[in-house]
Amino acid sequence: MNKEEVVDPWTVEGAVVDGQNQAIDYQRLLDKFGTQPIKQELLDRIEKATNKKVHRFLRRGIFFSHRDLELILTKYEKGEPFYLYTGRGPSSKSMHMGHFVPFIFCQWMQETFKVPVVIQLTDDEKFFFKSLELEQCIEYGLENSLDILACGFDPKLTYIFSNSLSMNSAFYSNICRIGKHITLSTSKSSFGFQDSDSVSKAHFVCVQAAPSFCSTFPHIFGSRKDISCLIPCAIDQDPYFRLTRDVALKIGCIKPSVIHSQFFPALQGLNTKMSASIQTSAIYSTDTKAQIKQKINKYAFSGGKDTLEEHRLKGGNPDIDISFQYLCFFLESDEELEKIRQEYISGKLLSGELKKICIQVITEFMQDFQEKRSKISRKDVLECMSTKPMEWK
Ligand code: TYM
Repeated sequence: MNKEEVVDPWTVEGAVVDGQNQAIDYQRLLDKFGTQPIKQELLDRIEKATNKKVHRFLRRGIFFSHRDLELILTKYEKGEPFYLYTGRGPSSKSMHMGHFVPFIFCQWMQETFKVPVVIQLTDDEKFFFKSLELEQCIEYGLENSLDILACGFDPKLTYIFSNSLSMNSAFYSNICRIGKHITLSTSKSSFGFQDSDSVSKAHFVCVQAAPSFCSTFPHIFGSRKDISCLIPCAIDQDPYFRLTRDVALKIGCIKPSVIHSQFFPALQGLNTKMSASIQTSAIYSTDTKAQIKQKINKYAFSGGKDTLEEHRLKGGNPDIDISFQYLCFFLESDEELEKIRQEYISGKLLSGELKKICIQVITEFMQDFQEKRSKISRKDVLECMSTKPMEWK
């Protein structure tokens, strides 16, 4: 059986060739989506401009693709401002480790460039696309905001907004301006909608597009229209921002820049992302030490050999080993990571031993995260949702 790869905001599935599941082919996605690879020269330029080593997600090619990132960097080098925009579709009470990837990175960008971040909670989107009540999605959004703030965002430079609770005239006006330039057939073909889908789904792209324009946030940017936006997200969200960029110039706005990450994979393997809709694929922000250990030991796909003798002789394959892949995302030291890789390839390190290291690293991350989260309250969230002026210059 053969099947083509599917990557869109709802589905992430690697190809199937002769019945074998394939890993997501990121090189192919660069070509298919027409985005640019992040090359070493660009990383060197970021390090030079910020006087700081780039984040491990950049060093390791986890953020691997972009649209017009150079333009943002040129602005920064000239001392001109920009802002960051990212978001969450609140469909569950707690977030999983995959969701943290863009937020961890966005927090690092905020700290490094000292810029405002706007975070959209698309409670409306989840109401349109899932069988959930709107009130439930709003509540999930407020609850998820605790997870988001625990990533370490600077409350003075962070605006969180719910589409249902925070809609105001500037936001809605931009939604109207955008909507006028997106035909129904463009929305249908970009997202694969059918005639039986609701008009809300076809229109939603305008709501996710609007925060890409600074005029949506007068309490932050006043009457300025010339402040560029950079959007960190996983590559599944790119279809939204392709359309946004197509519309931008037509409504007198600057095209947003985008930086895309690969997916934090499901425990079962590299052919799909960690997903909230498949419980056993995911490690959640609320999981205990014992649950993390149990999930990795039971489900994490291993690149090791079947028998001890064979493993010692031929070694393991870190490229398909989920425990190793998780370490690529969460182990900070490049030297330690390389040592583990070499020892696994040589057969010195066994699959069970690799899992043990992975459990330790993920547990440490989670315990630190959970401690930070326990210190954040609904009051902190509501403060970040207020439209008081922001001191960002
Ligand atoms: P949502 O809630 O599906 O996902 C939130 C963010 O997490 C990314 N993501 C992942 N990244 C790495 N590995 C994974 N396994 C993984 N799963 C999800 C998503 O790409 C996203 O960046 N419609 C959006 C919400 C949204 C948004 C935005 C996202 C509104 N405006 C602007 C990014 C930028 C959504 O439902 O995301």
